[in-house]
Formats: sequence, C-alpha cells, structure tokens
Amino acid sequence: MRTHTCGELRPEHAGARVALAGWVDRVRDHGNLVFVDLRDRYGRTQIVFHNDDEALLASARALKSETVLRVEGEVGLRSPQNANPKIPTGGIEVVARVALVLNPSRPLPFEITDDVDPATEVRLRYRYLDLRREKVRNRIALRHRIVAAMRKYLWSQDFLEIETPYLTRSTPEGARDYLVPSRISRGSFYALPQSPQILKQILMVSGMDRYFQIVRCFRDEDLRADRQPEFTQLDLEMSFVDQEGVLRLVEGLVRSLMKEVLEIEVEVPFRRLPYREAMERYGCDKPDLRYGLELIDLGEIASRSEFRVFREVLAKGGVVKGIRVPGGGKRSRKQVEELEAYAKEFGAGGLAWLKVEGGELKGSVAKFFAGPAGEDLKRAAGAGEGDLLLVVADQRKIAFAALDKLRQRLAGEEGLARSGRFEFAWVVDFPLFERSEEEMRWVSCHHPFTSARPEDLDRIHSDPGSVRARAYDLVLNGYELGGGSVRIHRRADQEEVFRGLGLSEETMREQFGFFLDCLDYGAPPHAGIALGVDRVAMLLAGVDNIREVIAFPKTARASCLLTGAPAGVEARLLSDLGIRILPETEARPAP
Ligand code: AMO
Ligand code: AMP
Repeated sequence: MRTHTCGELRPEHAGARVALAGWVDRVRDHGNLVFVDLRDRYGRTQIVFHNDDEALLASARALKSETVLRVEGEVGLRSPQNANPKIPTGGIEVVARVALVLNPSRPLPFEITDDVDPATEVRLRYRYLDLRREKVRNRIALRHRIVAAMRKYLWSQDFLEIETPYLTRSTPEGARDYLVPSRISRGSFYALPQSPQILKQILMVSGMDRYFQIVRCFRDEDLRADRQPEFTQLDLEMSFVDQEGVLRLVEGLVRSLMKEVLEIEVEVPFRRLPYREAMERYGCDKPDLRYGLELIDLGEIASRSEFRVFREVLAKGGVVKGIRVPGGGKRSRKQVEELEAYAKEFGAGGLAWLKVEGGELKGSVAKFFAGPAGEDLKRAAGAGEGDLLLVVADQRKIAFAALDKLRQRLAGEEGLARSGRFEFAWVVDFPLFERSEEEMRWVSCHHPFTSARPEDLDRIHSDPGSVRARAYDLVLNGYELGGGSVRIHRRADQEEVFRGLGLSEETMREQFGFFLDCLDYGAPPHAGIALGVDRVAMLLAGVDNIREVIAFPKTARASCLLTGAPAGVEARLLSDLGIRILPETEARPAP
C-alpha cells in the first residue's frame, strides 16, 4: 500500500513517485493550495494539493482529522523559507496526484497533540487515540527498547528464558492473590502468581543454572503511582553464586541498558548502603541520592535541652532528628508552617524550626537553645548563616516517615532532584523479619525463601528482629527498582524460617510440601532478583506514573476504562463454576 513511511522521505528522494499511507494530522486550506500533514508511527509528511486538479483539491479540503488516507504523488523539494527544520521530513513535501480515503474517522473526543493532556479518564477510555500521540507512543517504544536490551544482555550471559504458568498456586509476596476458579475441580482455585518465586527456585534445582523471564505478576493491593495490579518483572535466578554475584550481574545489565537505551555511562559498582544506614541518613530504604539533605541526629543535644517535648520523646525511646536546608532561612514563617502541616500529615507531632540569622538562632524553639546550647546545636547540625533547621521528635517510624517526605518535598522545592540524573544504589542487609502489629506476628521483610546472614542465625528465635537477611534492593532516584535475595537451599533451614513465621507443621506441609520435598533432591545454592520493568521504564522515560509506560493500564480502582473490566458474567457461567454471589447484606464489606 505504501512505498515509504511518513517519517522516511528526505531531499534526496526529490522527483521520486511515492505512495504514503497514514492518518490526517492537520489540514491547512490556503485557497488554491491545501496542505495535509499525514502521520504514522514513523513521523509526519506534508502533502500538498494544487489547483491543477480541482476535484482532488476539493476532496483534500473536505478531509477530517484522523481519516486514514493513502496518497500517491511526487516528492518535491521545499524552498529554504518553506522548509520545516523541526521535523526530519521538513525538507520535502509530496505533491499529491491520487488520494484515497481508506477509512474516515468520527469527530474526536480530544485533539491528537502532545501539547495538551486530556483528563486521565478520557485518555484511558480512548487509549487507542491517546497512543497516537507522539510522546505517548515514544514511551511505549522506549519500553520496547529497554526490554530488548535486557534480553540481549541476559542472552549474552548464558541465561535461559523460561516461561512459568500463570494458573498456579499462591506465591507469598505479601499481597492478596487474584484467584481463578476451576470449573473442573469445583471449589478449587488457581492463584495468579504474585511472582514466579517458587518456580524459578525449582528451576535451579532442575539444574537450569541461569534463568530469566520477562513476566507478568499479579497483586491485589492498594494502588499507587508506581503500582499496578498487574505489572511486569524482569525475573532472574542464578545457581552457585552469592549476593555479590547477583549484584555484579545486575550492575552489568543496568550499565549496558543505560548505554544502549539512553547513551548514558553509569559507573559501577553502585554504592551499597546497609538498610540501617539508609534509614538513619535518609529516613527510608529507597533514598533519592541525587541530593543530600541528610537526616542529622540531634538526640544527644536534645537530651540536654530545656525543651520538654524533645526530652520526653527521647525518654520514651524515640528520636530527635533534623534536616538542614542550606539557605532555607529565606523561607517565610508561613512557608515553614506549611512544611509543619505537611510533616503532620505523616504523623509527626510537630515540626520545630530554627533559622540562623545574624549568628543568632530564631524560630519556634529558639528560646530553648539560647547561649551555649544553641552553639552546640549549630555545630551538630552544621548550620551556618541563612540556613534553616527542621526538627522532628517522635518514635523512629514516624520521625523517619515524616522526615523522608519532608526531604523529598524540600528537594523538589529547592530544585535539587535533577531530571536526567540517575543515582543507582544497592540497599543491603535488610532485616529478615519485620513485626506486623496488625497480625501480631513476625512476617518476612522480603519473602520467606530469603536466607539469613549466617552469623545472625542463632538469634532467629531469641531475637528475630535483629537477624539480617541476605537480601538487597536496587534503588534509583527514590524508587525501589528491584529486590532479591540469596535463597535458603536446605530443607531444614527453610522449615526453621517457616516456623519462625508461625506456620504450623500442617500448613507448612499443605502449602509448601512440594517445595520442601524439592529441596531434598539436591538443591544447589542459588540467589536471584526481580526488577520492576514498569518502574525502570517510568524512570528512564522521565515520567512519574507507571501508567505512562503501559499500553493498557488500569485505574487506581483496578479497572480498565477501555474494555470495562472487571465486569459481571452470566449466571450460567457462575453456576458452571459452582459460585454464587452473596447479596450485599451478607457479604463482608470490601476491605
Ligand atoms: P518484589 O516483591 O520486591 O520481589 O518485586 C520486585 C520488583 O517488582 C516491582 N513491583 C511492582 N511494580 C509495579 N506494580 C506493583 N504492584 C509492583 N510490585 C512490585 C518493584 C519491585 O522492586 N520474587 C521477588 C524477587 C526475588 O526475590 O527474586 C519479588 O517479587 O520494582
Ligand atoms: P509548642 O511549645 O507546643 O508551641 O511547640 C513549639 C514548637 O515545637 C512548634 O514549632 C512545634 O511544631 C514543635 N513541636 C511540637 N512537638 C514536636 C515534635 N514532636 N517534634 C518536633 N517539633 C515539635
């Protein structure tokens, strides 16, 4: 149907007879001339209709946006003053001889342009039109290049690409499962995988040595800008390696990916931050390292201060930590009070603040830091003239959460989170368990197949919270890109961890018997990781929602506005499955 694409023709094609096909992007009527921009995936080409063929000219004048059109004609050079240097085909135009409407379009719900973003609901409802926009399409193409680079690298490193089933058993990654009822075994359910964790470990027992898969995972959890109910992992597993082996492999992968996709050289090895240090310095386990604004511990000085709130918090085992904002003294009282309100949104009891002005401390708690106490505080915080010091006193978890959010907001306001900069790091030495206050028990920090640091093993029952895992996260600019661990490969150790998590012998056998048995048949030492492909693509594309790099994403309520999923089904289908929907009054409210 076409000899060239709409992005292909250049001045050297002048004089050639060509055929193009695409969508009518824009029609400009100049009376005796009509210009039509024809668009496809590859670009835009200007078609010109002259008045030497009145019928053809009239048909061009009548063209509506997004009509699918085929045009035949000659490539003509544009004069320098008519050339458009902004687009690659701007040096030429096609002089139309024949034009054929292949399919008309209804009036559009929005204009196909990069300049204005329609409302999200409209974009998702008409996703096929949204995807026609250049920047939206470019992100999908970028994602393709990312996935291609990942494959290329892993193939070169002897990885086998192996698929695992979607109709499977529950894999414990900490979210709720999506269940699929079985028609043949009434009352039984498959669970869609939260990840291929167990199966990839079994592949190591099978001797596959190096596995990867670019795989969909399903988690029924609360959605956020970086979370979708179904998302894609680059999942991999390796035998006969330790933690260092996995980190190095991923560093190689990321390096080659960044080079191939963005032509950016990243330095390896990435810096490694123990979990505790990340929490103390940044208040979170996925710090944005493009800027400083580190948390400063002011506990020692606070304990000697006159401010009752600080002393009481410390006495109750809490912390007093602050952030120094260089030059932040220029912020008005009102602006600082906005920061206080923001910190309170994340549970902080308050936000004490101090400015250094003319060598003196001014601010909400200045009166408690007069004289030498104030000098000590300035020294401890490294605060100089014109700086602002923001302080939160609270229980660790709350103080860290509030300061983490504050740190991010400050960086944004101060213009420190530079786009186009990529600060990769590994966060290592995560705790093996964390306390779930809701469930009143210990739960896995990563997942239950994660092994402990051998030197911490003897505390697994006496002091579970202090046991460090051989687990690691890859972080980039404030996002967790991936997580993995060195696995348990001996049955007895795996059973020990299950017991630590409060699993009864019976549950263990019933849910994980097949896996425990597998470990009995010569399971090699192995380790692995999974990277969130959507998040990688989001960050490389420079956008702030993974929806932007997914062709058909879901809303925050996990629905697809294009297809209307999820939707009801015929009663007959439910009865085939032996399922009856409880009336509203009998159903448990959705949690
Ligand atoms: P984890 O649960 O840390 O590890 O997941 C790995 C990575 O997957 C991405 N991710 C998500 N992306 C979008 N939407 C979601 N709902 C979502 N949930 C997770 C994140 C995350 O870092 N089986 C282990 C890996 C292993 O141990 O090898 C696992 O799934 O980028
Ligand atoms: P008050 O004496 O209650 O007016 O508080 C004086 C200052 O201390 C105000 O700026 C409060 O925001 C701040 N403040 C109160 N509680 C805390 C806290 N838990 N952590 C940090 N600052 C606090």
